[in-house]
Amino acid sequence: MDREALKAEVETIQWWHPIDLGDGLVTPGADVHIRARLAEIRMPDTLVGRSVLDIGAWDGFFSFEAERRGASRVLATDSFCWDGGGWGTKKGFELARRALDSRVEDKWIQVLDLSPESVGVFDVVLFLGVLYHMRHPLLSLERVASVTGDHLILQTQVDMLGIDRPAVAFYPKVELNADPTNWSGPNPAAVVAMLRTVGFSRVEIISKSFPDDIAFDPSGEPQPNHVTVHAWK
Ligand SMILES: C[S@@+](CC[C@H](N)C(=O)[O-])C[C@H]1O[C@@H](n2cnc3c(N)ncnc32)[C@H](O)[C@@H]1O
Repeated sequence: MDREALKAEVETIQWWHPIDLGDGLVTPGADVHIRARLAEIRMPDTLVGRSVLDIGAWDGFFSFEAERRGASRVLATDSFCWDGGGWGTKKGFELARRALDSRVEDKWIQVLDLSPESVGVFDVVLFLGVLYHMRHPLLSLERVASVTGDHLILQTQVDMLGIDRPAVAFYPKVELNADPTNWSGPNPAAVVAMLRTVGFSRVEIISKSFPDDIAFDPSGEPQPNHVTVHAWK
């Protein structure tokens, strides 16, 4: 692609992900923590011979990274943001795919419609930054489990911290980040318990953005805390 034309096109798009398109051109994504998040999720260094499904991929940073790490096939799926339902669109994903000469596939599909019949089963599934957008978190995880052959990498906002029992905060309005598309804030115990309930045999919290001795905050104000979890079938 002509570099000046690419630069000009990049500037017409509102990006969520900063994506390195080469030769020093990085898309101006709003998620300035993307490199820290990539380190946090501990995506395997090599994905050679593995198929990867990236659910809620948006601009596709993690899909392109999985391809860069050698995945044999990567499918990026999304619905809301690709529709322009929020402030983003699918234009970023499409432009980055062209600029990177990527073979990442795409499919518009809702989380609740994921199934072996609709998308197939993948060795590695990424479910990053999506669970708290789900009105039906357990049902969503059931669908995610149905398309995971081996290894799920999940990152989510968490709430109800300092409570040992599984608990999920419900955001009926705009309680979390003034965003009406945020519905549920599970605590870490709930994330683990839900993943076991939907059929993962081993579940490990691999990173937390808060201390172990955090106390429950009865004010009900959601805090910007998150966990990353790896789970295996
Ligand atoms: C916070 S963004 C996370 C994007 C990316 N996975 C990341 O971690 O940076 C949430 C994504 O989930 C998608 N999403 C929200 N609800 C969805 C649904 N019901 N079905 C499919 N995707 C959904 C949004 O469109 C958006 O792209």
